[in-house]
Amino acid sequence: MDMLGGLTPSEFLRDYWQKKPLVIRQAFPGFQCPVSADELAGLACEEGVESRIVIEDDNGKPWQLHNGPFSSDRFSTLPEQNWTLLVQGLDHWVPDIADLLEHFRFIPNWRLDDIMASFAPTGGSVGPHYDQYDVFLLQAQGHRRWTFGGHCDQSSPRVEGTPLRILSSWDGEETVTLAPGDMLYLPPGIGHHGIAEDDCITLSVGFRAPTIDDILTGFTDFLSNQSDASDHLNDPDLQVQDNPGTIQPDVVDRLEDVIREKLGDRRQLTLWFGQYSTAPKSMDIVVPAEEPASAEDIAEAVNAGEQMRWNEGSRFAYYDFDDETALFIDGEQFLLKGDARPLAQLLCSAAQVDMAALARHIEDEALLGLLTTLYNQGSVYFE
Ligand code: SIN
Ligand code: CO
Repeated sequence: MDMLGGLTPSEFLRDYWQKKPLVIRQAFPGFQCPVSADELAGLACEEGVESRIVIEDDNGKPWQLHNGPFSSDRFSTLPEQNWTLLVQGLDHWVPDIADLLEHFRFIPNWRLDDIMASFAPTGGSVGPHYDQYDVFLLQAQGHRRWTFGGHCDQSSPRVEGTPLRILSSWDGEETVTLAPGDMLYLPPGIGHHGIAEDDCITLSVGFRAPTIDDILTGFTDFLSNQSDASDHLNDPDLQVQDNPGTIQPDVVDRLEDVIREKLGDRRQLTLWFGQYSTAPKSMDIVVPAEEPASAEDIAEAVNAGEQMRWNEGSRFAYYDFDDETALFIDGEQFLLKGDARPLAQLLCSAAQVDMAALARHIEDEALLGLLTTLYNQGSVYFE
């Protein structure tokens, strides 16, 4: 398999990632879509699954958006053509879809958003638009004609009368028709428009980076929840001043010291980012095990050679500090020291955990306890 069209992952990252689009013919040769249109429609009827329908001409209104969950008879009221069903987070719901992510591990786990599926009958599309994230658009079933190219931003003209951000005067630069197994990589900000040529399913493997706003508000929220956040600024050396209205420069110096000390704490920044970037997107994703296991149960399963894997939708990452390793799983943080540190690398490298290597760790009671916690919180399971 030649998922990057003859490029090595390093060449792809150097020449295309965040820079320019790439069309890859037969990235996944002979690709069979693991879900059918009916199954997508079924998922879109379920509570807890994020789904949308976009209709190009909705009784005269352009590009109308309808949010799921839908009732099953909703689909019989749709027009023959020119609509799209979108199902978000498909990797969480369908293990065969989650397995696709193993081909994208050359991009860090923390960068992954999710896999979205779209189904459209002939003529269906979500309109010409641009996204704020990197996306690999894998043609899974049928054919889609993509026109893409040109950098867009907030100032690009938009269609009025729709809640969606549809580009109004955009032509694109290149047009390709993708068949099952073909894939189009698009960096953020590139205009694109994909129109179904027949009954068509496209899988969008999306990689999202935080905005500056996410970073500032996320990190300051995290700091505000630390135990010393309720300490007050003190001033035991207060001096008499001529005018009580003056805010003295040394007050501002002290404020600056607090901000510098708190915002400049690299360890806290790392711990926040690990938790933030692995946090589940919704409460439904990481569900505690129905029957909690004991440490003995876990040891028995590992010794019996059962395959442990990540819960689809769980996110794993780690950071090596000088003296310890912080392991982040589904927004939780575990600090590993000494001989325990390699466990982080082992658990984070692939969704199917290397069981021979894991078996060497379960002798350690604390690590067996950690695996038991992960199993009971629903971040891993045995296949
Ligand atoms: C689609 O699959 O129809 C839309 C995906 C996208 O343009 O981002
Ligand atoms: Co898009």
